[in-house]
Amino acid sequence: MKLPQRAYLTEVGPRDGLQNEAQPVPTATKIELCERLLAAGVRQLEATSFVSPKWVPQMADAADVMAAVGRRPKVRISVLTPNRKGFDAALASGADEVVIFGAASEAFSMRNINCSIAESIERFAPVAAAARENGIRLRAAVSVAFGCPYQGEVPIADVVDVAKRMRDLGCDEIGIADTIGVGTASHVQHVFDSVLREIELDQVSAHFHDTYGQAVANVLASLQCGIYRFDSSIAGLGGCPYAKGATGNVATEDVVYLLHGLGIETGLDLDALVDTGQWISMQLGRASASRAGNAIAARKRAKAEAAA
Ligand code: HMG
Ligand code: MG
Repeated sequence: MKLPQRAYLTEVGPRDGLQNEAQPVPTATKIELCERLLAAGVRQLEATSFVSPKWVPQMADAADVMAAVGRRPKVRISVLTPNRKGFDAALASGADEVVIFGAASEAFSMRNINCSIAESIERFAPVAAAARENGIRLRAAVSVAFGCPYQGEVPIADVVDVAKRMRDLGCDEIGIADTIGVGTASHVQHVFDSVLREIELDQVSAHFHDTYGQAVANVLASLQCGIYRFDSSIAGLGGCPYAKGATGNVATEDVVYLLHGLGIETGLDLDALVDTGQWISMQLGRASASRAGNAIAARKRAKAEAAA
């Protein structure tokens, strides 16, 4: 299979990356993170979530983040919206895209959004209709597509079934998500082979967490299936509060290093991403989880020391 010439990354660091932080992250830090990412060439930015602050306190400042992040031409700012209340807030905030998030297992659906899969689709329907009426792009996430922390194995047929329901709601893009980072390359290929039998390639994206160290390999496995849209998170930040033990998303720096190495364009400035990944990790008081980011930063430091 020929690899795509161009890939599109949605940066989810400010949302998936920060939603799980135990310590409150200052709103100003979130805003600066968004601005730095945009300056590094990010064109699809998942900035925050309009979810219940009781469920995810870290995202309680969603409106303030959205009000402060500067808009640029050709930049799509997205936010998570689990229901109509979230959508209304997203609309008021000027979001370009809203993300509904369902699950391929009943157990995870209950834990994450407090309803069954069927109920979630009922709740998403008015969000989808309102998105259409207001000309807002609609994306869906299908969580736990490669394994569920509560149920264990997730049949591929269940992933395809939820993806089809999302398609029928009129989603422009459907992200197939490995919430707990358990997928392996061959599993990824089986899942995408099945999903792509039902959903147009142009509508499908992949969202990997790196818990088992497989995320970059899984990006490559997806590229080999033709997938060219990926979510990634600066410095590998991330995790879902309702998937305990799952670590961060695949690091943006690592994915960009892979893609550029394969000659695939991203429009992103890897150097600026590395600086941003190092900066946010320092703000959070820990080392970056991006292997490529840390390696490039170390090389830059050595070069600067040699020049001094
Ligand atoms: P619920 O308790 O069943 O909802 O939660 P409810 O309708 O009964 O409302 C309860 C309270 O929340 C009420 O407030 C509502 O007003 C309020 P009260 O009257 O008690 O003061 N509320 C809201 N507030 C602000 N914004 C809203 C909103 N909706 C209700 N939109 C609900 C159901 C869906 C709201 C809740 O379960 C929730 O917010 N869940 C979000 C969980 C979440 O954000 N998880 C992480 C994101 S998903 C993820 O990370 C996976 C992903 O990365 C892909 C992958 O890796 O798999 C996307
Ligand atoms: Mg996620």
